[in-house]
Amino acid sequence: MYQIAPSILSANFAKLGEEVDNVLASGADIVHFDVMDNHYVPNLTIGPLVCEALRKHGVTAPIDVHLMVKPVDRIIPDFAKAGATYITFHPEASEHIDRTIGLIKESGCKAGLVFNPATPLDVLEYTLPKLDMVLLMSVNPGFGGQKFIPYVLDKARAVRKMIDAGKYNCRLEIDGGVGPANIKEVAEAGVDTFVAGSAVFSKYNANDKNRYDTIIGEL
Ligand code: DX5
Ligand code: ZN
Repeated sequence: MYQIAPSILSANFAKLGEEVDNVLASGADIVHFDVMDNHYVPNLTIGPLVCEALRKHGVTAPIDVHLMVKPVDRIIPDFAKAGATYITFHPEASEHIDRTIGLIKESGCKAGLVFNPATPLDVLEYTLPKLDMVLLMSVNPGFGGQKFIPYVLDKARAVRKMIDAGKYNCRLEIDGGVGPANIKEVAEAGVDTFVAGSAVFSKYNANDKNRYDTIIGEL
């Protein structure tokens, strides 16, 4: 089952609740929630307060919290309390990967590992059976609107093979530069969950009420 996960990084934060309602009403499946700390990545975004605010606003769809923060462990219980569904983190940002996965699971959330474009997949050898999500970055993390890095398709094929070989119940997600022009190719590489930020939120004029339907339909 394919799932579309709009990244709210490209949404209008002044009316975030409405933006999220619109993309969900237009057929999006998951809310992708980018957390940046101006330390692990060179940008600063949103934290548990905003996640909680979306839940209080009435969002019931899964919230896919992508942590680009270092250290990672201490923020996990706060996001669990704030209503996160998935919590994914970068192995480089954790001193003890197994412990961090355990923390996420103990807090009642689904756990995922995120691989930057040039980060090898070797830690999956020991972690894949425990993971609910593998997220492959197809841009270097930190900003929306960057260009898709094509060699990540080889990584997607490799992870798809591992998931299928072990019959793991694990989603394969991709993040960065995904849009109508390349989503078919990405799906053919074995990806089942597609993050799209600028393609969803910025492509169409903000006054065009149909922009979400149009783009999510195209994806
Ligand atoms: C980048 C973020 C992405 C970003 C994707 O660090 O993790 O989720 O919002 O944006 P687009 O789809 O515009 O590349
Ligand atoms: Zn992301």
